[in-house]
Amino acid sequence: MTLAELNQRFAIGNHVQFKEIAAGMIVAEVANQHALANIVLQGAHIATFQPRGEEPVIWLSPYAKFAPGKSIRGGVPICWPWFGPHKSDSKLPGHGFARTVPWEVLETKALPDGSTFLRFGLIESETTRAQWPHASTVQLAVTVGKALRVELITTNTDTKAFELGEALHTYFHISDVAKTTIRGLDNCAYLDKVQNFAHCTQKDGIVIESEVDRVYINTAADCVIEDKGLKRAIRIAKQDSMSTVVWNPWTEKADKMGDFGENGHRGMVCVESGNAMENIVTLAPGATHKLVAVYSVEKL
Ligand code: BG6
Repeated sequence: MTLAELNQRFAIGNHVQFKEIAAGMIVAEVANQHALANIVLQGAHIATFQPRGEEPVIWLSPYAKFAPGKSIRGGVPICWPWFGPHKSDSKLPGHGFARTVPWEVLETKALPDGSTFLRFGLIESETTRAQWPHASTVQLAVTVGKALRVELITTNTDTKAFELGEALHTYFHISDVAKTTIRGLDNCAYLDKVQNFAHCTQKDGIVIESEVDRVYINTAADCVIEDKGLKRAIRIAKQDSMSTVVWNPWTEKADKMGDFGENGHRGMVCVESGNAMENIVTLAPGATHKLVAVYSVEKL
């Protein structure tokens, strides 16, 4: 669909407009009485979310690249239909292909409470079918209000069951890692990627002082990012997600990635709601699975 067609069918005055921000890269700009948000159609990638009167909740690197087929550093990348490396083919992209392929807009609507609802669907192609030989659909439903509600909905339209790994790989904006504690994972088991997947147990709140790359398993609990610098907490509530990933690349890895900027890693932390490792989902033919995350701000 062209930009003009998109605006004709799905724009809503005072709620949603579509713009081209780089060649081939279209963004849905959402502005309502509660918040502002931008969603890039490639990857159905929520790039920004900022409740009115608040600092941004989502971190987007100032050096993020917006280009066809490239993943965007920051925002809410969708890891789907696997999380991390593919289990048998190392040539396939890490975290799946959903974040780097085109999605289409299926629906936009203004809700009675002033929020905005948008629904996107991944567009299947030869490329996606070659990497994922299962008949399925995946949609992202986003509600932009005072809180941001994100639903990743997968349906198995095949005749056989398949295994699904997934995550909303959300980058959160914080004042500084030294002033931030992530709570909600006490006594949780995790696999520590920094220590070659060692099995560990979380003892207390997490303060990031070096590279952190952990997959917490069997946890449905809310997480709260307490930020003394911004005097606020970001609450991450979730449904049908049994894994939480906490990631900060720290200095050396961030420098190597080239799209963080100097000390960019100090102003972000990823707290990802998903189903990974032991928690991957088996989806029976005809079944639908819905991963939900809701991000809201509380005063500290
Ligand atoms: C995290 C992984 O979820 O994503 C890390 O646990 C990975 O191992 C990080 O480095 C970022 O991945 P990418 O592919 O977006 O650079």
